[in-house]
Amino acid sequence: MPHKVLITGGSGYLGGTLLARLAQTKLPAYEKLYALVRSDSQAESVKQYGAEPLTFSPRDEHAVRENVVKQGITIVFFLIDAFKADSQVYFIRALAEVGASTGQDVHFLHTSGAKLFSSHTGAPTDRPLLDSEPGLYEIQKSQKATLDGPLTAVATNNTVIEQGELHGVKTYVFVPCIVYGKGEGFGNPISIQTVAIVKAAKATGRVYKVDANKPSWPVCHVVDNATLYIALLSKILEGESVDHGKQGYYLASSGSVVWEDLYSGVAKSLAEKGVIDNDEVPLADDSALQKMAAALGVPKDFVAFSLGGRCTFTAAHGRSLGWKPEYPPHHILDTIDEEVQLILDNLT
Ligand SMILES: NC(=O)c1ccc[n+]([C@@H]2O[C@H](COP(=O)([O-])OP(=O)(O)OC[C@H]3O[C@@H](n4cnc5c(N)ncnc54)[C@H](OP(=O)(O)O)[C@@H]3O)[C@@H](O)[C@H]2O)c1
Repeated sequence: MPHKVLITGGSGYLGGTLLARLAQTKLPAYEKLYALVRSDSQAESVKQYGAEPLTFSPRDEHAVRENVVKQGITIVFFLIDAFKADSQVYFIRALAEVGASTGQDVHFLHTSGAKLFSSHTGAPTDRPLLDSEPGLYEIQKSQKATLDGPLTAVATNNTVIEQGELHGVKTYVFVPCIVYGKGEGFGNPISIQTVAIVKAAKATGRVYKVDANKPSWPVCHVVDNATLYIALLSKILEGESVDHGKQGYYLASSGSVVWEDLYSGVAKSLAEKGVIDNDEVPLADDSALQKMAAALGVPKDFVAFSLGGRCTFTAAHGRSLGWKPEYPPHHILDTIDEEVQLILDNLT
């Protein structure tokens, strides 16, 4: 039986771009595309991509079950919460019910984040950590973070995998990194980390670095991020055996960028626009960290978590699906002025 697919987060940056690109892609046959929305205007907007809107709370287990089972949804792409695992577990249980009653393979993709494979959360950073590495699940299970909160999100990755195995649902942990470029959806057009750098700079009048030792981080254009989602979906729809569960981590990245190069590009662009008056990038002292934290709405200890740190997570898995990123890692630096303007135009 052909699949029924539910995309969540369609009004967001990643999910909006995914929906827009899905509408331009010839996918293998499937029965129906649904999009989770939470307003009438979002419901109207998703129809332009051929998606039927569904409105229910992903935080309500009964509502998740009712909708997934009633529609016979067999594939869920979850793009709304990398932190807590509650909704993901509800979807996995509901998918299991559909699988049991139809005999079909059922699939759940959880969108996580590169921070959970970085220095912030105790992942190895002394070597490239491949997303196709066989022992990644065991590594995640043993990670110890310096901050408490982020470990919850590491545990969420593990819970998704464990609940998938328990209920016979094939799970995938999809990992976005520093994503940049204009979102192509109808909702939020801007990302997270580049936005944090600009927000903090506006508050302090400078771009500050938060690490002394020039660490780097994987990077990905938002369109390449969307095409990896689509490569995975295509393989699933074709009925091909795709690595999943403990072998199902997929980092969307074309390579790495050194944070300091990114900070310098943002500082130069903001200074040229007169938003800050100095394009030097000093190391943040305590007082700068306080102001950055206030601007980002996080405790001071979380500033580096928001816009710094070392991550050697390396994309290999996507290429085995035939995915090839279009934009090289230095593209973010080549287009940083556009990125800064996009953020300034859309900051709320
Ligand atoms: N962007 C990145 O660079 C990046 C990197 C790593 C990880 N991630 C993770 O990827 C996920 C998506 O990121 P994003 O940048 O696309 O975020 P975003 O632009 O803020 O989008 C979030 C989406 O989730 C929806 N949503 C949130 N709570 C919901 C709820 N209770 N019910 C229904 N919909 C809900 C939002 O709907 P509304 O529009 O109605 O609010 C929106 O569509 C997040 O978990 C994020 O942490 C993103």
